[in-house]
Amino acid sequence: MPENPSKREIGERFDAEFAKFKRQHPEATVATYYTRRHVLKNWALEKGHNSLGGKIVKQDGEQIEFWEAGRQKAENWIDRYNVAPTAKVVEYGCGTLRLAAHFIAYLPERHFFGLDVIPEFLEKGRDLIGAELIGEKAPVLAVIDDASIAAARDFAPDFVFSHAVMHHVHPDELKIYAANIASIASKPGCRVALNATCHPTPIRYGNLGWAQPEAQIVELFRPLEFAGVRKGKAVKRGRFDVQPAAFEFVRTSTEA
Ligand SMILES: C[S@@+](CC[C@H](N)C(=O)[O-])C[C@H]1O[C@@H](n2cnc3c(N)ncnc32)[C@H](O)[C@@H]1O
Repeated sequence: MPENPSKREIGERFDAEFAKFKRQHPEATVATYYTRRHVLKNWALEKGHNSLGGKIVKQDGEQIEFWEAGRQKAENWIDRYNVAPTAKVVEYGCGTLRLAAHFIAYLPERHFFGLDVIPEFLEKGRDLIGAELIGEKAPVLAVIDDASIAAARDFAPDFVFSHAVMHHVHPDELKIYAANIASIASKPGCRVALNATCHPTPIRYGNLGWAQPEAQIVELFRPLEFAGVRKGKAVKRGRFDVQPAAFEFVRTSTEA
C-alpha cells in the first residue's frame, strides 16, 4: 500500500465515487471517468486548465495563448532527444495537442501519430491546430484501444513520448500504460521519453497524482532499456517532497 499518514486517505472519496460508477460501467477507467468529467466540466464553465483545451492558464493564473503554451517544452524535447525532422513520432496521451501541435508543424506529412483515451480531447485538439495544418500534415489522431495500439506499432515510430501523463495514471492502470508504450516502440532503435514523478516509496499525493521510485519506473518499462533520467528540483505535493523526472528508454531487444 502507498504510504499515507493522513486519517482520511488521499483520494478516498474519489475512489469510492469511481468504484460506484464502475459497477454500472465495467469498462470505465480512472482516466476515462475522472479526467474526462473534470475537464469537460471546466470547459463548460469556461474555466481554464493548465494543459488541456484552448484556455490554458499557468499556475499563477496568467492565461497563455495555445500556440505559446507548449512551444518551449516541445522545442526542448525535440532538441534534447535529437528528434530528426524526418522522424516518425507517436505521442501517448496527447490531450488537446498542446505539444503535439509543434511536432506536427515540425515533421513531414503523416509522420505524427497522437493517441489519447478521451475522444473529445482529440476533437478539441483538431480545432485548435486548425484545418489548414491538419490538411497539410495529415496527423493520425486516435482513441486508445487495441486496434489503435496495433496501428501505432505498425507506424514504426523512431520516437515515442508521453508528456505529463504518467503521474496521473492510477497504479491499477500503470502496467497497461507501460505495456502499450513498449509495444508501440517496437522498432529496434526506437527511443522513448516520458516524464513522471519520483519519490523513494510509492505514494499518492492527490486525487489524480502518484509518484514512484526511480527503480520501479525503470522496471515497469522492461523490455525497453533504460537510457537515462534527468531529475528536476524537489517540489512539495501536499505533505510530500517529490521530484519531477524525465526518463529515456530505447528499444534494443525484439522481446514484446
Ligand atoms: C495533463 S494532460 C497532458 C496532455 C499533453 N501530453 C500535454 O502535455 O499537453 C494528460 C493527458 O493524458 C491522458 N491520459 C490520462 N490517463 C491516461 C492513460 N492511462 N493512458 C493514456 N492517456 C492518459 C489524458 O486524457 C490527458 O489528455
